[in-house]
Amino acid sequence: MTYPRVRKAVFPVAGLGTRFLPATKSMAKEMLTVLDRPLIQHAVDEAARAGIEQFIFVNGRGKHAIDDHFDFAFELERTLESRGKAAELGRSREMVPAPGNVISVRQQQPLGLGHAVWCARHAVGDEPFAVFLPDDLVMGSNPCIGQLIALYEQTGGNVVAVQDVPREHTNRYGVLDVGRDDGRVAEVIGLVEKPEPEVAPSTLTIIGRYILLPEIFDHLQNQKPAAGNEIQLTDAMAQMIGQAAFHGLRFTGTRFDCGTKLGFLQANLAYGLRDPDVSVELRAFAKSELQTRG
Ligand code: G1P
Repeated sequence: MTYPRVRKAVFPVAGLGTRFLPATKSMAKEMLTVLDRPLIQHAVDEAARAGIEQFIFVNGRGKHAIDDHFDFAFELERTLESRGKAAELGRSREMVPAPGNVISVRQQQPLGLGHAVWCARHAVGDEPFAVFLPDDLVMGSNPCIGQLIALYEQTGGNVVAVQDVPREHTNRYGVLDVGRDDGRVAEVIGLVEKPEPEVAPSTLTIIGRYILLPEIFDHLQNQKPAAGNEIQLTDAMAQMIGQAAFHGLRFTGTRFDCGTKLGFLQANLAYGLRDPDVSVELRAFAKSELQTRG
């Protein structure tokens, strides 16, 4: 059986980023930098590497920098050109998708992740699509979303990236109730958003990569606010269980929760230690810091 190809990705980027104040007072949290590129570019690069062609940003107020980042920067690039800075010019232009392939829609009110995804319904249309939560940065040679797409191409239906977490952390995530499970692919038979550890159906949690069928929009349309008084994507997905295939994939790669200070710093360290320009000196610095403070 062949399933329709996944060509589009939705990036909800309307969040307020309150955990990073004051850094995010006048700047989108998705523009915070891990090594040399903003979080949103890490996500878009991952999507592009997996063959995604259209990038749909669900923006909020004050997020123009994200749209501008994926556009030509005429003044800057003209200056770089006139100074003969070819490498820098290349870096500025590398992230610009083909004309017409960036779409921005606005989420006028912060009503939750489910609502943000629903705001993209006209741009997505009637085809399966990917969702990226750019706070979740996945490091690895095989793009996480590409792994999800490969599974989707075999199974159809919804696919989410999952990882095991300590039980005391289940109330931070969407959690799976698991049916058949071969240790890599788990059949999803139930989903709960942020359950307390005592009632969580498992410790297998969703991280911010999804392949969703367009039917999700019908469920989102009728969703009432739930956990955190927000319209939850997890609740709409839960309603699709039994109607379509639904799997969780234990992806390969390292996930950093860049929505927290700790995860963000860990990501910077991990990327830095792998970067040929800085790794040697960074390693020496980290060692001496640990010796004096650790
Ligand atoms: C969101 C989702 C949750 C998922 C998590 C992954 O929560 O609602 O199901 O597990 O992202 O990072 P948030 O982190 O926005 O509270």
